[in-house]
Amino acid sequence: MICTKKSELDEFMKQHLKPSRYTHSLGVEKMASKLAAIYGADIEKAAFAGRYHDIAKCFTNEEMNSYVRKYGLPDMYIDNNPLAHSKVAACILQDEFGVDDEEVLDAVRSHTTGRRGMSLLEEIVYVSDAIEENRSYPGLEELQAQAAEDLDGACLFIMDYTLERLEMKGRTPDADTVEARQFIIDRINSKE
Ligand SMILES: [Fe+2]
Ligand SMILES: [Fe+2]
Repeated sequence: MICTKKSELDEFMKQHLKPSRYTHSLGVEKMASKLAAIYGADIEKAAFAGRYHDIAKCFTNEEMNSYVRKYGLPDMYIDNNPLAHSKVAACILQDEFGVDDEEVLDAVRSHTTGRRGMSLLEEIVYVSDAIEENRSYPGLEELQAQAAEDLDGACLFIMDYTLERLEMKGRTPDADTVEARQFIIDRINSKE
């Protein structure tokens, strides 16, 4: 069993997420289960990581910073919700809810950036986060269809888009995202 305190965890999620974020989380759970079934990953782990990946997303800045300090995360995560919420979520799942499955924790931890060497489960949660059914943007359906046939291709598309958007905003991407993208490109090339 991934978590023996699932009802408490569900309560925590309900209390700490805005309704739209809650709905998004259920959408990621559903999409991650679907992709896990297609690609032969562990469906239970994918569903769990998908459902709880954003439990820290709606914390106030002060709350997030106090968790970053509590768990001894690097200073780069202070005042940095976009990157901190993934790391903090994994810490909370482990520390407060007894989740010790490293594959699940990695999938939560890396869901915003990806990382070099990311596992199939991590890739599934990363992709599901971007393409779950409650998202709405032009090309979503095509991307969902691509993810069901070519997970690496869909993953690379999402990474490219993320990096382009950061560049447009004049923000420096996290090193993990840049490395994750190269990792996926190398894998695509090695298959050709
Ligand atoms: Fe997130
Ligand atoms: Fe998310």
